[in-house]
Amino acid sequence: MLDLFTPMPADAQSANRAAYRQFIFDRDGQPDFAMRTLSRREEGMRRYTRPLSTLREIDRSLFHEEYPRLKPRRTLSREALLLMTLVKINAAEAYGVERTLHLATQRAQSGPDEVELLLHIEESYHTRILLSTALLYGIELQEPFRPASSLRTLIAAIAHAPELVARALTFAGEIVGTITFLNVLDATREILRHDPELRDAIEERVLEVLTDEIGHISFNRMVLGPAGVASARLVLPIVAEAVARTMPVLGLLGVKTHSDDAAFISTSSRLPEVVRKAAFVA
Ligand SMILES: [Fe+2]
Ligand SMILES: [Fe+2]
Repeated sequence: MLDLFTPMPADAQSANRAAYRQFIFDRDGQPDFAMRTLSRREEGMRRYTRPLSTLREIDRSLFHEEYPRLKPRRTLSREALLLMTLVKINAAEAYGVERTLHLATQRAQSGPDEVELLLHIEESYHTRILLSTALLYGIELQEPFRPASSLRTLIAAIAHAPELVARALTFAGEIVGTITFLNVLDATREILRHDPELRDAIEERVLEVLTDEIGHISFNRMVLGPAGVASARLVLPIVAEAVARTMPVLGLLGVKTHSDDAAFISTSSRLPEVVRKAAFVA
């Protein structure tokens, strides 16, 4: 059971942190901090470059034309909107990771362990996994999408905020991200129900990312005390609104980033069985 808003007792934190560190090593393999790679994740990435039985059709020139825009100007099919969402959804996290990598590296040297740095590396796999969706349509995207400048400013401000504030906002961001991914998963199942092979290939990617995100939520709750958890809960609607505003493609697809407090509380019951079994929950 994923309990989002109950702070973890201080005496349980270090044991849980050690257990999570071991979980990451088991799941991800050996880290190479200089290359920012994880051995098992590298092996796993190979399956995402494997083509499907056929290349899926999409209006590629329209996709390339609309991709750099915050909000598409021309009408896109639901399938194209889904693809646009998948390749852009990790943009804020990718940018956040870029801005805080040096802090995570410092903390890995001076703090209790390298867990935070490992999470940063996991995020770079999220970007790669989600970008690989485009390959199924014959579109190659190498770089993560750059978020809107207003969002970049917000992320940079969070990165340099006092640690408690930064952590509370990061925790809120992980929760909103997870709910958004769950909603994207529902959209994938609905939009691609005519194409089970493609649907399964995309589902596999989203489920892999979701599994990591549950660990990230658990970790952030672990390191935040009662004040941090309470602050995160307060800012959740603001973070959800910010994500929706800065990623209008989500709205076009009908994907919500948040509805109400109950939506956050029910996150745990919405987790697919495969995620529940594979994720680190504390
Ligand atoms: Fe992520
Ligand atoms: Fe995350």
